[in-house]
Amino acid sequence: SARVVVLISGSGSNLQAILDKIEAGQVVAVISNRADAFGLKRAELAGIPSQILDHKGFSDRLSFDQAMMQAIDTYQPDLVVLAGFMRILSPEFVQHYSGRLFNIHPSLLPLYKGMHTHQRALDAGDLEHGCSVHFVTEELDGGPLVIQAKTPILTSDDAASLQERVHSLEHIIYPLAVDWFCAGRLRLTAEGVWLDDQLLPASG
Ligand code: GAR
Repeated sequence: SARVVVLISGSGSNLQAILDKIEAGQVVAVISNRADAFGLKRAELAGIPSQILDHKGFSDRLSFDQAMMQAIDTYQPDLVVLAGFMRILSPEFVQHYSGRLFNIHPSLLPLYKGMHTHQRALDAGDLEHGCSVHFVTEELDGGPLVIQAKTPILTSDDAASLQERVHSLEHIIYPLAVDWFCAGRLRLTAEGVWLDDQLLPASG
């Protein structure tokens, strides 16, 4: 069965959704860059080994990333899952996990890369918003899409209400994507992302 390492920085609700929905035992480790991440408690409750690697203990991004790679590779993962991991990763890290590194982002990529996505969708007057799972490449929030989910933006919405709705969509699509990958159904090639024998559309 496939081996998944999940990287977190915070609440870990996406980690929880993955733990709840994919085959038991496939998440082999959780790594956090913050000692106070609630996701570490979730890992403990699920009986999954976890590790804290504080970026503040490293002089530069690359040395932190090298320590991360070393920690991650101890677990020999087939897939590395960024689940609210709030550090930008170096090209070295991204290349090392090329084709086996997922991220989830709270917008309908290619819209709203970066931070404050919910407020930006509201400010733009968008009629819909959502979230995206993608393979990670060197372009921040720019890698090939795996799956997206959408919700309409209501006139009553503020950033908090939108965030809450998008978060529950994340909890549906992230476990799906991880499950597809673990089942050997997803592949990243030069042509794009394949699900079974279908080449997926390049963007939403
Ligand atoms: C999620 O909404 C995720 O999309 C976002 O952080 C949240 C983590 O929640 N990620 C990013 O903004 C990445 N740039 P969680 O810790 O409860 O899973």
